[in-house]
Amino acid sequence: MGQALLEINELAVSFSTQGGEVQAVRGVTFAVEKGETVAIVGESGCGKSVTAQSIMRLIPEPPGRIKNGTIHMNGKDLASLSEKQMRGVRGKQIGMIFQDPMTSLNPTLKVGDQLTEGILVHQKISKNEAKQEAINLLNLVGIANPEERLNQYPHQFSGGMRQRLMIAMALMCKPELLIADEPTTALDVTIQAQIIDLFKEIQRKTGVAIIIITHDLGVVAQIADRINVMYAGEIVETGTVKEIFYDPQHPYTRGLLDSVPRLDGDRTQKLIPIVGSPPDLFSPPEGCAFAARCDYAMDVCLSHDPEHTKLTDHHYTKCWLQDKRAQKPF
Ligand SMILES: Nc1ncnc2c1ncn2[C@@H]1O[C@H](COP(=O)(O)OP(=O)(O)OP(=O)(O)O)[C@@H](O)[C@H]1O
Ligand SMILES: [Mg+2]
Repeated sequence: MGQALLEINELAVSFSTQGGEVQAVRGVTFAVEKGETVAIVGESGCGKSVTAQSIMRLIPEPPGRIKNGTIHMNGKDLASLSEKQMRGVRGKQIGMIFQDPMTSLNPTLKVGDQLTEGILVHQKISKNEAKQEAINLLNLVGIANPEERLNQYPHQFSGGMRQRLMIAMALMCKPELLIADEPTTALDVTIQAQIIDLFKEIQRKTGVAIIIITHDLGVVAQIADRINVMYAGEIVETGTVKEIFYDPQHPYTRGLLDSVPRLDGDRTQKLIPIVGSPPDLFSPPEGCAFAARCDYAMDVCLSHDPEHTKLTDHHYTKCWLQDKRAQKPF
């Protein structure tokens, strides 16, 4: 394999708070190839957004701090760039759709002005050409009557339309990578499906790679090539969609899959929530972070942190159950 588009290696991010140091991300490693879609899934607070913000170098410092690890985009170490160079990467190479829609939309500015302004920051073209680009973008994201829409304010758009607008903003400078943090969470199911289709269509047309963050496994199944399952600041299992859905190996992944409705619509299936809550990230446990909630936990799980075990070329899990050195309980 050649150089990946994005390579994250051993990323660790902490926040200092009054209660102590929150270890939000604890050694995350993964890569994104050109044109592929990688999903990050996991419960609230497991470090998904912090991982995304780290890529964009948007961690507020202080209280946050990247304690370890590297992030390379097209082979370039993002940490070595000046803030000015990094502004060029944001938007131009990496577009981001934030979890809170209103963070990227200015409520006091007409949509057209926001789009053309953004386009003009990155491209040396005339105002009229920028306006035409804005119209093209609205067409691309499926907003009807784009010329009329450009004269409206964000609050005049419905939730689903606003989300399309956010996608248009993120695509403004034709990025190679799009990071979408919970892009469909606030939307109803029908609109959700439309937005997912839109992502797929944009990817087909532009070849953009996508990192999609969500706790909705249904969304993941429809759009992703590969899945990173995060738990307590770590990736506990990674694999292709098929591997994760049909051959999950980490008990947490299996728990996640059992706690959501099946994709084949089997209504007889019982949903089983994962009992308990994630560990305290101020002082994560010595052993496996999931051990306290795991039905299969062995002695070693409580005392020693598991390493990643390779199952196939793409499939890895961080669990003693798969580690050849551990005694099998069954
Ligand atoms: N600015 C901050 N200051 C202090 N702690 C923070 C800050 N940002 C994030 N954290 C902490 O880092 C941890 C990971 O947060 P993160 O936002 O990445 O979770 P998440 O997986 O995106 O969750 P959700 O699904 O709820 O969006 C949490 O414990 C959170 O409280
Ligand atoms: Mg988040």
